[in-house]
Amino acid sequence: MTRYTLAVLPGDGIGPEVTAEALKVLRATAELFGYRIDAQEYAVGAAGVAEAGDSLPERTRCAVTQADAVLLGAVGDPALAAAEGKRRPEAGLLALRKLLGAYANLRPVRVHPSLAHASPLRPERLAGVDLLIVRELTGGLYYGEPRALGRESAVNTLRYTVREIERVARVAFQAAVERRGSLTSVDKANVLEVSQLWRATVTRIGAEEFPAVTLEHLYVDFAAMRLVAEPARIDVLLTENLFGDILSDEAAVLTGSLGLLPSASLGDGPGLFEPVHGSAPDIAGRGVANPIGAILSAAMLLRYGLELPEAADSVEQAVTAALAAGRRSADIAREGEPVLGTRAVGDEIARLVLLGKGRTVPELR
Ligand code: IPM
Ligand code: MN
Repeated sequence: MTRYTLAVLPGDGIGPEVTAEALKVLRATAELFGYRIDAQEYAVGAAGVAEAGDSLPERTRCAVTQADAVLLGAVGDPALAAAEGKRRPEAGLLALRKLLGAYANLRPVRVHPSLAHASPLRPERLAGVDLLIVRELTGGLYYGEPRALGRESAVNTLRYTVREIERVARVAFQAAVERRGSLTSVDKANVLEVSQLWRATVTRIGAEEFPAVTLEHLYVDFAAMRLVAEPARIDVLLTENLFGDILSDEAAVLTGSLGLLPSASLGDGPGLFEPVHGSAPDIAGRGVANPIGAILSAAMLLRYGLELPEAADSVEQAVTAALAAGRRSADIAREGEPVLGTRAVGDEIARLVLLGKGRTVPELR
């Protein structure tokens, strides 16, 4: 029996609640497809600070580099908002991405037809929305040196090398080849030199290596507008770290809830899989968080981390079936509909995975 070693980093806030459900669903696929999962938990973020005074403790560093894949919940704690250095929860996440060399962050945005009511956009704008954001994850302003906060001024540095742009562009072009063949690269080339280099490099990689992909360049302000005005026109959207952070939250609300969005961060080492939503301290510990972002991240872990596409399909189909049958958490429930807690949503999706083919569930009404 094939065995896979997972490092599970529940993290902070709702992280532990949603990763527990993702793990439950992963175990269901293991039973269905006949493989074994060895999952061990390690601390990150504020949980790491509590355990070892470090948002990415040494024990966690060792484990993630040796794992087949890393499943993460969320990082962030308002109590540590003013913390500095290794005691900043977010610093642990950034260090983790760097340690794994996870330079390409894939954030797929799909609108489930049964959730159109939860989206702020009119249903006709939502028809056909199926896009993939490819966000550069280990460069740009997040990591640039020098950086400093002074009393009268502060500085951050935006720098990208050609090599950094090339490698993430290849991931995005390849995704476009496997999807609808079109790539939208987003920058601010009318103002920033870094964006001019970005644009020239993406254009060259396209011409040399992916001539069949249709490439367009948009300025980031226009792209922000396109995302809400005509989201269905976008197939793959490639952009740098900070723009990608902002645009992916914007794209997420199209689906009806930030709680639905998964992500995969891929690169040199084991992949890192985490929902896009944060630690949501306001609802943490109450069992009401939507675990679907984490569960779909587990599906991405199966697809990209363990190369088990059938298992990944089974999870995605189970999520679609659960949503269609009205098994929903508070953030996406319709008026008057029964509201399920975090655990009940996870149980339902795990059950649907185990049902295997022919999964239909009666309406809950
Ligand atoms: C995300 C988050 C992180 C980021 C934070 C928590 C550092 O917002 O994954 O989008 O900005 O990358
Ligand atoms: Mn973000």
